[in-house]
Amino acid sequence: MTGWRIRDFLDDDLDQAIPLWGDPATAGAAAAFGLSEIIEAIRAGQPAVVAVVGNELVGSAVALVDGSHAWIMRISLADNWRRKGVGSALLEALENRLVTRGVQRISCLFANGEEVGTAALEHRGFNVRNGLLLYEKVESVASTDIGILREVGGRLLGPGHWAELGGMVREKELVERRVILPLANEQLAGRVGLIPPRGIMLFGPPGTGKTTFAKGIASSLGWPFVELFPSRLAGESPAGLAYALRETFDLVGELNQVVVFIDEVEEIASAREQRTLSAAHGVTNEMLKIIPNFREKDRRLLVCATNSVRALDPAFLRHGRFDYVIPVGPPDPEARCAIWSRYLSTIPHDEIDLDSIVSASSLFTPADIEFAARRTAQAVFEEALLENGSELATTQLVLHCIYDTRPTLSPQIVEEFQQDIKDYARV
Ligand SMILES: Nc1ncnc2c1ncn2[C@@H]1O[C@H](COP(=O)(O)OP(=O)(O)O)[C@@H](O)[C@H]1O
Ligand SMILES: [Mg+2]
Repeated sequence: MTGWRIRDFLDDDLDQAIPLWGDPATAGAAAAFGLSEIIEAIRAGQPAVVAVVGNELVGSAVALVDGSHAWIMRISLADNWRRKGVGSALLEALENRLVTRGVQRISCLFANGEEVGTAALEHRGFNVRNGLLLYEKVESVASTDIGILREVGGRLLGPGHWAELGGMVREKELVERRVILPLANEQLAGRVGLIPPRGIMLFGPPGTGKTTFAKGIASSLGWPFVELFPSRLAGESPAGLAYALRETFDLVGELNQVVVFIDEVEEIASAREQRTLSAAHGVTNEMLKIIPNFREKDRRLLVCATNSVRALDPAFLRHGRFDYVIPVGPPDPEARCAIWSRYLSTIPHDEIDLDSIVSASSLFTPADIEFAARRTAQAVFEEALLENGSELATTQLVLHCIYDTRPTLSPQIVEEFQQDIKDYARV
């Protein structure tokens, strides 16, 4: 039966083609390529042919050429034009165009049980390749975001940063429930009237994991992570810093989703009376204006961290700017045990007395533990290389390295932190 003819795809065909491609009943090869990808391919001049009856479009085939290999993105046939040879004729025409472009291998992916076009492929001598699995990953950064991320130094962290946080069970659970889960499940949050947080402040002594928490949040959400360094943004003058902050937040505001992190935020938002320069005053004021703007859009989170929450301008911490003010404190014995286990898992060792290691490192932050573990590995390395000794760490050796490491914390710092929790924490 004839009545149809095959020709190249023309721009005007788009209106009729889209329903054919988009409707699962008429579109073969449904699984691999989305509608927008097909349209993009055709716009870019990839080979595409259509079957028409008069002015009516009854079938189409679209390919994507990659060197000598091509993929057939879609074969579509209108329902009443199947099993009439239209599919084979479309394929023949498409193959001709591919061969003239130097294509030697043509592949086509189908969803399980999908039928449209398979008869035509077999008729044209295509063979089924069994045993293939399709692996796929959808990157969460829109192409429009890439330029902005490059400009502000943002990046995707990949999964796994959250799991890197050993111990700290209470802090992790808190951040997961208050911050990550509402942002990751915004529709449920919306239905029950929960507004996900837009800004959080982490405070605690140095090395307790604040930066690691911020990265873990971005990593869990799969959102890009943008860290701002006030000292780098500043240029020569505090007035320059206010301007640079505004510019940067304007840019970041255009991203579809983002975690923005400012470490040592007391540098730009310290209490006004502590400042001498009136221009520095301007920086805090600028931040006070920036944050409400930032909070207006969904799918963004500002994380600020400080070692010195009591130095912050009280206006900065007021409700409406930061939804939660979260202490990230010295690790308790359980947390130290988990963190030690993590770091010692990469150092071969004998039976180890973890309890004495944990109590010997009572004023250690996670960063101190990381450092003492590094010392341990270095000592084992030197012993093995230079003294022909064992490649195993012992409890004695670890304890020795602990005594050689100066703890960041002191009873006074711990006490001040406890007081800060009473005065400032809001969870
Ligand atoms: N809970 C933890 N488990 C394992 N390592 C940690 C943990 N918290 C922090 N660290 C490590 O300690 C170091 C300092 O952590 P960081 O997040 O920079 O602390 P802060 O920002 O509070 O100063 C990092 O190298 C980090 O990998
Ligand atoms: Mg930090």
